[in-house]
Amino acid sequence: MTLILVMDNDCAIGKNGGLLCRLPLDMKHFRETTKNSAVVMGRKTYESFPKRPLPDRENIVLSRNLSKINGATVFGNAEEMLKYVNSLEKKVFVIGGAEIYKLLLPYCDEALITRVYENFSGDVFFYDIEHDKSWELSESSPVLETNGKNIRFMRFLRKNS
Ligand SMILES: NC(=O)c1ccc[n+]([C@@H]2O[C@H](COP(=O)([O-])OP(=O)(O)OC[C@H]3O[C@@H](n4cnc5c(N)ncnc54)[C@H](OP(=O)(O)O)[C@@H]3O)[C@@H](O)[C@H]2O)c1
Repeated sequence: MTLILVMDNDCAIGKNGGLLCRLPLDMKHFRETTKNSAVVMGRKTYESFPKRPLPDRENIVLSRNLSKINGATVFGNAEEMLKYVNSLEKKVFVIGGAEIYKLLLPYCDEALITRVYENFSGDVFFYDIEHDKSWELSESSPVLETNGKNIRFMRFLRKNS
């Protein structure tokens, strides 16, 4: 599976149940990259979307408490979800949030990380994958500006994957 996220200088990914800020270029990148794929997320992330399910994607949600969610396929544990996504022909993206990134990182061999060069004082975090020796940077964009913020798109691959 491929993990996709945006994080700031402190590896923060969210604040008060929502995203750190509006980054139109990153939203476009996310839409185009995940289109026609399956996206796996935690119940809190799903509920944070103003419009749900995410269109043109198979929405898969992990929740221990809810067994049915409109517009999504729900799994109560990672094992069942992994069995299901392994049977899919399409690409599968892990799209957050913090709990789900942590849970599913061991099953990902690719990570698409957008760095936003700001400090937002977030309250949920990923980690500094750039300095994790088990991952290597395979592609990186120049620094780009969106909504007054500097961002960079990076692709990491798990070593020996
Ligand atoms: N920067 C980014 O790219 C990005 C992307 C996505 C989200 N975010 C942000 O991340 C934050 C949300 O992250 P979060 O960590 O609070 O929540 P989350 O990962 O979205 O969802 C957590 C929920 O997932 C379910 N869950 C977790 N582990 C499970 C397991 N092993 N089996 C079954 N269900 C499981 C539980 O749902 P139940 O409580 O229903 O049991 C749990 O409460 C928000 O601020 C959001 O905006 C940022």
